[in-house]
Amino acid sequence: MIAAFQSTPYNILYLVHMSSVVLGVGMAFIAPIMAVRARRSAGQALEEVVNETASNIMFPMFLVAGIAGGALVGLSDDVYDFQQSWLSVGGAVWMLVLVLTAAVYPPSWLRLFTVGDNRKQMLGGILHLSLAVMLVLMTWKFGV
Ligand code: HEM
Repeated sequence: MIAAFQSTPYNILYLVHMSSVVLGVGMAFIAPIMAVRARRSAGQALEEVVNETASNIMFPMFLVAGIAGGALVGLSDDVYDFQQSWLSVGGAVWMLVLVLTAAVYPPSWLRLFTVGDNRKQMLGGILHLSLAVMLVLMTWKFGV
């Protein structure tokens, strides 16, 4: 066994999971507010800087969060397993989060879709909702 539930390696992974969650979710909710303020006070160029910065941070953070989360399950001595609904549903919602982030905030090295501004607004709303669902699932841990 490489590590046990709540051993030092487990806790380090937990820290990685939580740090990337904080940065990714924080950015997802704050970036739209900053983008609007940037456009109003300094125009489209500054709005683009905000959106580009958000794009280069958000997707990698959600990717790392999910990989670290999966590894936590593996290292948890069967306390957690993918039969538990919070993790099976959470895994699916995480994939949705990645697709939505790639559509609304694509990092410079990942341009999978071309999405118009109107559609981005709607998909951004679904992204926020998915993140809220994810936080509820992770907190309540239904099915443990
Ligand atoms: C955007 C995606 C995600 C968000 C926002 C998120 C958020 C969180 C939060 C806030 C916690 C702390 C809850 C607590 O410890 O009581 C947590 C814990 C946890 N997450 Fe995630 N998570 C995400 C993705 C994932 C994925 C994809 C997995 C697994 C496949 C996962 C597995 C876990 C596990 C196992 C814990 C519990 C660790 C422990 O309490 O020892 N997470 N997550």
